[in-house]
Amino acid sequence: MILPDARTVELDSDSRERLRARGLDYRRVDAADEPALDAFIRAIARGFIESEPTAEKIEAARTGQLGRRLIGVFDATSPQRDLPVATVGSWIAPLTIPGGELPMWAVSEVTVAPTHRRRGIARAMLEGELRAAAAAGVPLAGLTASEATIYGRYGFGPATWQTRWRVDTRRAGWGGTDPRGSLQYVDREDAAEAFGELHERTRASRVGEIAGWPLRWRQLSGAVPGDPHGSSVRAVRYLDPEGVLRGAMAFRIVESDTDWARSRLEIRHLIGETSDAHAALWRFALQHDLVGTVTAEMISLDEPLPWLVADSRAAVRTVEDHGWLRVLDVPAAFAGRSMAAPLDVVLRVEDPLGIAGGSWRLESGSDGSCRAVAAPDAEAEIDLGVGELASLYLGGVSARSLAQAGRVRGDAAAVAALDAALRIDGAPFLSIMY
Ligand SMILES: CC(C)(COP(=O)(O)OP(=O)(O)OC[C@H]1O[C@@H](n2cnc3c(N)ncnc32)[C@H](O)[C@@H]1OP(=O)(O)O)[C@@H](O)C(=O)NCCC(=O)NCCS
Repeated sequence: MILPDARTVELDSDSRERLRARGLDYRRVDAADEPALDAFIRAIARGFIESEPTAEKIEAARTGQLGRRLIGVFDATSPQRDLPVATVGSWIAPLTIPGGELPMWAVSEVTVAPTHRRRGIARAMLEGELRAAAAAGVPLAGLTASEATIYGRYGFGPATWQTRWRVDTRRAGWGGTDPRGSLQYVDREDAAEAFGELHERTRASRVGEIAGWPLRWRQLSGAVPGDPHGSSVRAVRYLDPEGVLRGAMAFRIVESDTDWARSRLEIRHLIGETSDAHAALWRFALQHDLVGTVTAEMISLDEPLPWLVADSRAAVRTVEDHGWLRVLDVPAAFAGRSMAAPLDVVLRVEDPLGIAGGSWRLESGSDGSCRAVAAPDAEAEIDLGVGELASLYLGGVSARSLAQAGRVRGDAAAVAALDAALRIDGAPFLSIMY
């Protein structure tokens, strides 16, 4: 897929004017201008309540900004006038959707300095990103959220979920398969490479995934200088009986204060291309000597772990929203999506930002394809917000559940038909934060 470059897209003039009226300068940060980029990176660290980054951490962080459209908001009255009081970074990433992939405007690094909070700066930046993405013809925007309460107001809805696990290893036992391949320790840099390779090989088969980037894999494998936990991270890879790389895991062991033989193994990242690889990595963690508890996060909603252990109640999970989506162009978003059942329904979509609102006829073709066309004069059978449309889009939540919650309104038969058409195999899943 050839993706446009978000850096070439004009800054939104409404947002610029709105911020200028408040004495703030909304402008691009050039990643080639090292002092400006470093200030941008320091502002992000402050926004995410991290300590002041060291020179080596800044150097590593620079690589993560390559190719991104970086925007800072500056306050000329600040004694640190070159340090932005707000930041946002974005790029266009391929998103796996049911039946293929589409370009998605990825929004990240959203911070506002606590001195400038709740004055509408984030709103101006977010609306600016969404208008820019829509103007560039990108059908969807996406992000991962620090809090579930922030982005609904801009028309985002949760579309993938992650699970967190806590497993009592003594109680869990093992009830799964006995993989025939082998596990090997690898260096952190090699683990990062294995994560990238495996992710790239598998992301097209998992609805909800986006492409990763080298710094993300190095962060997960503890390879980035300045990571306070870096030296405690270890990594293993799984080779199938033919010697082909099929899985990798990075983890660290946190010693127990009271019982050394019951330390906690924290999985930082686990990826298995095959069910053998997946089982072998979990078994390695659960059977690790001197470990009493295994914890993991960023695991899919359809994770089979309870079926791999002997005592399923030893594996306790919690569920959290993870990947949020925003539909910007209804016909383009749905033209790329496959349908699991026949559909012909008119939706009335409410969009507070006026980007994707209106009445749309959604219909399936005989080959399972989908078509959405404007239907301004047709009577709508279903009413919903643009955020709910985004939540339904990847098939991760049923229209019936949203109707029960009053978030989708309409005739029960139409809701059931929409439900059946948008259903997918498995749960949509995004394995990384961005
Ligand atoms: C979240 C954050 C970016 C908001 O910035 P801000 O400039 O204070 O937000 P705004 O003033 O533009 O607020 C816009 C709206 O969002 C609401 N809002 C802002 N932060 C919120 C939060 N954390 N939870 C719930 N609502 C929030 C505001 O009340 C306002 O609501 P309204 O439009 O209905 O009146 C800022 O608090 C921040 O940097 N937090 C720490 C870093 C972080 O979590 N960033 C998000 C990364 S995903």
